[in-house]
Amino acid sequence: MSRYIVTGGAGFIGSHITETLVGQGHEVVVLDDLSTGYEHNLAAFRDKIEFIKGSITDEALLQKIMPGTDVVFHQGALASVPRSVAEPLASNDVNITGTLKVFIAAKEAGVRRVVYAASSSAYGDSETLPKREDMPGKPLSPYAVTKYVDELYGKVFTDIYDLPTVGLRYFNVFGPRQDPKSEYAAVIPLFIALYGGRGAADPWRRWAIPRLHLHRERGAGQPQGRGRGRQGRRPGLQCGLWREDRSGRTGREDSRAHR
Ligand SMILES: NC(=O)c1ccc[n+]([C@@H]2O[C@H](COP(=O)([O-])OP(=O)(O)OC[C@H]3O[C@@H](n4cnc5c(N)ncnc54)[C@H](O)[C@@H]3O)[C@@H](O)[C@H]2O)c1
Repeated sequence: MSRYIVTGGAGFIGSHITETLVGQGHEVVVLDDLSTGYEHNLAAFRDKIEFIKGSITDEALLQKIMPGTDVVFHQGALASVPRSVAEPLASNDVNITGTLKVFIAAKEAGVRRVVYAASSSAYGDSETLPKREDMPGKPLSPYAVTKYVDELYGKVFTDIYDLPTVGLRYFNVFGPRQDPKSEYAAVIPLFIALYGGRGAADPWRRWAIPRLHLHRERGAGQPQGRGRGRQGRRPGLQCGLWREDRSGRTGREDSRAHR
């Protein structure tokens, strides 16, 4: 059994990491200030973890809880691009200074590894495919800057302090416990919410698979209005819904188009 700290563990992704670690029989401490996360995300395994309501910007708290920890899964962040545009200083404080404090406390406590949430926003609008981790950062928002700076700090802490760090550049993650009201990557939970009202016992046994495609405009003589491309087509997002029954069989259920 190892000891883990999950910062942001009451959030969408952090609560899944916590659940997995608990399921593997590890000791888990969740540090979360509940600014965008929820204690109810931890409800199913609340009695098996230590939950600390506090901030990654609190150095004294980090120094207190870090000793004896094997691995830190650092997920705590202000994970909103629009919020970072409105409040760049707040994003900087939590996402950069908070991460730096986590790295420092981990280094001083001799933690074996820090695995932290980086972001695909580091790629900006680069059109190169496939994306590769060694592509240079091209941040387009204060949020993206903070996540990219975390990567630079991570590398430096590994190089000069011997603290192994691993940054995972998440793309758009979606699934159970994602807040449909979140401003971040919220389109998939909105699709799910659309279907959730159909009386499904467990709407999250269904997956919404988004597909960007071109709708053919019906009828001749349609105006070539804003957003329309050649031949009266315009891009749209279609949501296909797949369901899984209790035996694990999957099948297409429905689809809706959104423009
Ligand atoms: N969801 C995605 O698609 C996605 C994509 C790229 C990167 N990320 C990154 O993954 C991580 C988790 O994102 P998420 O989608 O689960 O978001 P989330 O908002 O559900 O989780 C973030 C958690 O961090 C907590 N938090 C915020 N500030 C804190 C602070 N000062 N101290 C302690 N806890 C604090 C929040 O209360 C919340 O529980 C974030 O670092 C985010 O930037 C997410």
